[in-house]
Amino acid sequence: MSPSNAPGPLLITGAAGFIGSCLVRQLIGETRDRIVSFDALTYAGNPQSLGQALDSDRHVLVRADIRDAEAVRSALTTHRPRAIVHLAAESHVDRSIHGPAEFISTNVTGTLVLLQEALAFWRELPDAERAAFRFHHVSTDEVFGSLGADDPAFCETTAYAPNSPYSASKAGSDFLVRAWHHTYGLPTLLTNCSNNYGPYQFPEKLIPLMIAHALEGRPLPVYGDGANVRDWLYVEDHARALRAVLERGKAGETYNVGGKAERRNLDVVQRLCEILDARRPAHAPHARLITFVKDRPGHDRRYAIDSSKIERELGWSPGESFESGLARTVDWYLDNPEWVRAVRSGDYQRWIERNYGAR
Ligand code: NAD
Ligand code: DAU
Repeated sequence: MSPSNAPGPLLITGAAGFIGSCLVRQLIGETRDRIVSFDALTYAGNPQSLGQALDSDRHVLVRADIRDAEAVRSALTTHRPRAIVHLAAESHVDRSIHGPAEFISTNVTGTLVLLQEALAFWRELPDAERAAFRFHHVSTDEVFGSLGADDPAFCETTAYAPNSPYSASKAGSDFLVRAWHHTYGLPTLLTNCSNNYGPYQFPEKLIPLMIAHALEGRPLPVYGDGANVRDWLYVEDHARALRAVLERGKAGETYNVGGKAERRNLDVVQRLCEILDARRPAHAPHARLITFVKDRPGHDRRYAIDSSKIERELGWSPGESFESGLARTVDWYLDNPEWVRAVRSGDYQRWIERNYGAR
């Protein structure tokens, strides 16, 4: 196939973040796809996370902000993608509690800018390319709110009930995507996924933060009583789900993605301690570092995902068990202290002081 009639690349926003970089590494490693990584490189974005993609002639990194309409337009008209996979966002709930405005700006206004530019681009495409084009918005299970212990898991028709500034901003962006499909006909796809974990996750989130603190002999700060439940999915499985939806999902549809691995936070932290005890016996038992601290305001009690629709319709299911995924994750952090050191420079120490200092 000559370059002129080859299918267009995928334009992936937030590609230098945790999940985006996993998707890019997987696509470069396992397909012939061309990728345009579009990322503002905020504190959460790191080009090093793109790994082997950085050396590939099928990959290009555009450093730009999704709120910059001209930059988005230029990337679309220069690279002519066949789909946009939109992951760029402010993603940390605790940060949204300290500073909600940035979350509304990036997650809501940024998605609006992207939708408007995608719509204008899509409308001008030749018929066949217009029919094949997709705008895939990557969202979260947090838009559904909080479950009681015996409630059924979230499904695609569960009513939205976001509780944090982060989840409210993601819900707002989901509704914009829905409206751009219904009103303008933009061929959208939407996925709502549960908690991801794995390599290259910024160490402000539960699992990498606990690993980093345990290795330094610092307290492991468990919020509240530690009985909040999350449904954990290994990040490689999420990337595979995104690919399945992009390839086979129906325009206008939403798909829930989850790991079938509900765990209490305290159990997750204790399991991490056990794995570290085996890897670093001189510092065992790591569980002595567990410290209960003041709860997160508005802390959602339980999330659980019913992913039967994506399993039934698209043939996706998680491949990694929580136990093996957690061990792989610990090993990755033990093997990659340089990556951790690099991302913890800059404003990281100020963030830790701000979030944990007063608890
Ligand atoms: P992350 O914080 O690790 O990465 C976000 C990326 O977006 C970073 O590379 C950052 O530089 C980039 N970015 C931020 N603002 C930008 C802007 N204005 N313009 C361009 N780029 C910008 O996030 P993540 O954990 O990889 O999550 C990715 C997406 O998946 C988010 O939309 C998040 O809501 C969603 N999600 C995350 C999880 C999870 O458990 N981490 C679960 C479900 C859904
Ligand atoms: O459910 C999907 C969501 O999962 C994503 O949309 C978010 O982007 C992602 O950050 C994540 O949100 P959570 O708030 O669930 O993840 P976090 O890692 O911040 O916290 C997980 C649980 O651990 C939560 O109940 C709060 C608790 N926690 C977290 C931290 C950082 C602690 O007990 N101590 C901590 O220090």
